[in-house]
Amino acid sequence: MLLNKPDFTGRVINLDKLTYAGNASSLDDVAAQFSDRYIFKQGDICDADFVASLFGEYEIDSVCHLAAESHVDRSIEGPEAFIKTNVNGTFTLLDAARKAWAGDFDNKLFHHVSTDEVYGSLGETGYFFENTSYDPRSPYSASKASSDHLVMAYFHTYGLPVTMTNCSNNYGPFQFPEKLIPVMIEKMVEEQPLPVYGDGKNIRDWLFVEDHNTAVWAVMQKGRLGETYNIGGENEWENIRLVNTLCEVVASEKGKDREYYKKLISHVKDRPGHDQRYAINCDKLKSELGWKQSLDFGEGLKKTVCWYLENREWIENIQSGEYRNWMEKNYKER
Ligand code: DAU
Repeated sequence: MLLNKPDFTGRVINLDKLTYAGNASSLDDVAAQFSDRYIFKQGDICDADFVASLFGEYEIDSVCHLAAESHVDRSIEGPEAFIKTNVNGTFTLLDAARKAWAGDFDNKLFHHVSTDEVYGSLGETGYFFENTSYDPRSPYSASKASSDHLVMAYFHTYGLPVTMTNCSNNYGPFQFPEKLIPVMIEKMVEEQPLPVYGDGKNIRDWLFVEDHNTAVWAVMQKGRLGETYNIGGENEWENIRLVNTLCEVVASEKGKDREYYKKLISHVKDRPGHDQRYAINCDKLKSELGWKQSLDFGEGLKKTVCWYLENREWIENIQSGEYRNWMEKNYKER
């Protein structure tokens, strides 16, 4: 965590709209421990006046832009929010930074956090490199691709000091249970069918969330301006193999027979336009900035499963009506 780092003595202003997936109480401990250096502001990145007021109120020298609508299935169901937040919101932030910094870009930085999905879908071989052509295929990835282009346009046109990262699938504590790994853990806890889309042969490259954080920080500190750095787990798994492994990890933690949860696996209707395979080449980040993944996947999965099993209150608090409606809608229609 940034505020814990000995080489970071600044303040963090956390701007979050707290939509369905946001939960300020996830950061209660941080707020208590760093009350003088952590400021929470609820607001919308599309609200230009509000964003400008933050630049006016605080001396902001760096922006780390992580705000996004991020779930592919939701983008298929309702693309509009993705265009608003990911495209208009990124534009608003970029323009607010440009105006607030007014051409004095010394020691300023705008870092944009993006996704490997902008590169499209791979077949059985090959990797996404930083210079792979963009080929987004869902409303979500198209909106992220647009935002990436805006970031680079601000670099080339206005000289705004930017860096960008494109990361593979994250997992770990606090992930909203709409993504594959926490969905499967929750379904196992509830002893409900485990919904594997299609044949389960799609491949994702998994990275522990804290490794994503250290990579972003490395790029913010040492990355070259105007450059993109890919971040990945170098850890490709077919969904069905991952779900089987997850069943074994949960079974072991809950003292059940190794095969216990596997009988719940259920193949359901596929996601439209489902990207087949993502695989990141992150050599640039490793060789230029000396970053590497810290955790092996077995260890990371165990940590994640234990966190979800131990933090039932957090899960129950976020399972609002909206969450239940989404789960019902997404999975009933499959
Ligand atoms: O690659 C980075 C991207 O990874 C991020 O930019 C996105 O924000 C993030 O949502 C994630 O996108 P995916 O679509 O790959 O993640 P998701 O967890 O939704 O799905 C992972 C795989 O598992 C995908 O092949 C679809 C499948 N799946 C997913 C869910 C939720 C299932 O088979 N069943 C499910 O219930």
